[in-house]
Amino acid sequence: MPTTLQDLLVWRSFDRRGFERHARRFAGPPLPADLEGRHYLVTGATQGIGHALALGLASRGAHLELLCRDAGRAAALEGEVLAAGAGGATVLLADLADLAAVRAAACAAPTAPLDGVVHNAGLLPLQRIRSPEGFELTYAVHLLGPLVLTEALLPRLRAGGGRLVWMTSGGAYTQGLAPAELADGVEGKDGYDEVRSYARTKRGQIVVADALHRLLGPKAASFSVHPGWVDTRAVRESLPAFHRRMGPFLRTPDQGADGALWLLTAPLDAAARARGGLWFDREPVGQYPLPWTRPSASRVQDLLRRCVEDAGLAESGLAALAGA
Ligand SMILES: NC(=O)c1ccc[n+]([C@@H]2O[C@H](COP(=O)([O-])OP(=O)(O)OC[C@H]3O[C@@H](n4cnc5c(N)ncnc54)[C@H](OP(=O)(O)O)[C@@H]3O)[C@@H](O)[C@H]2O)c1
Repeated sequence: MPTTLQDLLVWRSFDRRGFERHARRFAGPPLPADLEGRHYLVTGATQGIGHALALGLASRGAHLELLCRDAGRAAALEGEVLAAGAGGATVLLADLADLAAVRAAACAAPTAPLDGVVHNAGLLPLQRIRSPEGFELTYAVHLLGPLVLTEALLPRLRAGGGRLVWMTSGGAYTQGLAPAELADGVEGKDGYDEVRSYARTKRGQIVVADALHRLLGPKAASFSVHPGWVDTRAVRESLPAFHRRMGPFLRTPDQGADGALWLLTAPLDAAARARGGLWFDREPVGQYPLPWTRPSASRVQDLLRRCVEDAGLAESGLAALAGA
């Protein structure tokens, strides 16, 4: 996919006006009205974009599996999705940074074939925090936890011909791959650089999504999607100055969730399914609008190898990722 001018136009593209403009020319199939009998797993649905996504699936009658880290918020969410019309709801309790907990939750999950999984949970911590296994938090939550979950769900995804969707960020455009920096996060001039640490893991998600797409195909598919700039707690608390400046121009959570909801559920044609890749507002987009961020093949391999090893998956079905 060639890089288009739109990939580079951030202002008025990532914001609410961008969504409204793009929505006027959505060309693909519409969102299905009825998802009864379909099964989806969503992470990070207690707030923000994931919450809008879960309600979008629930209101169409889908059965939801909700991976959440807090029992109280999970119970409230379960009630909400059932009230919205979900065909059923199952809570899986785990903090995605805690790989042992993710493994245990995945083992306790239902066994029905999956139509889709969305790795949406995410955060931008203002200081360096370590996961229980000692990894920098954004690396653990955006890459390692989701990989452990994906590995456990592979048979169900394959059985359902499912779609795996990674909620990345347009912030990834600014970063190349620096696999050696992932485990500890990026060290800037003044210590931990939270924005670059976050963006590098978001770049990593795009690369991992592509590698999984090659591994899963043609039975299942893997995509990455970015939501634009959305008015959520993450932006409010982690980027307060940006939130104040952009206020009325930020997308609503529903607008931010639209692209992932569509990739998960729309009757995609064979070309779109086979393509995988990064999407924004229901369209495939270039991954490297800034050419110097494009990684070499050996850097991609290094990233995949480290992710597989750090997630403890070297002996698993995902070991092949490191050589994909
Ligand atoms: N908002 C934007 O403009 C924007 C832009 C680009 C990308 N994104 C991406 O969109 C995704 C959703 O973000 P958001 O803006 O909707 O943020 P949000 O409103 O803060 O929601 C984040 C969700 O992730 C969950 N979560 C965070 N850490 C977790 C962990 N360790 N284990 C399990 N769940 C965890 C949260 O659960 P709790 O309720 O328990 O905290 C919450 O449900 C993220 O991946 C983010 O990087 C957002």
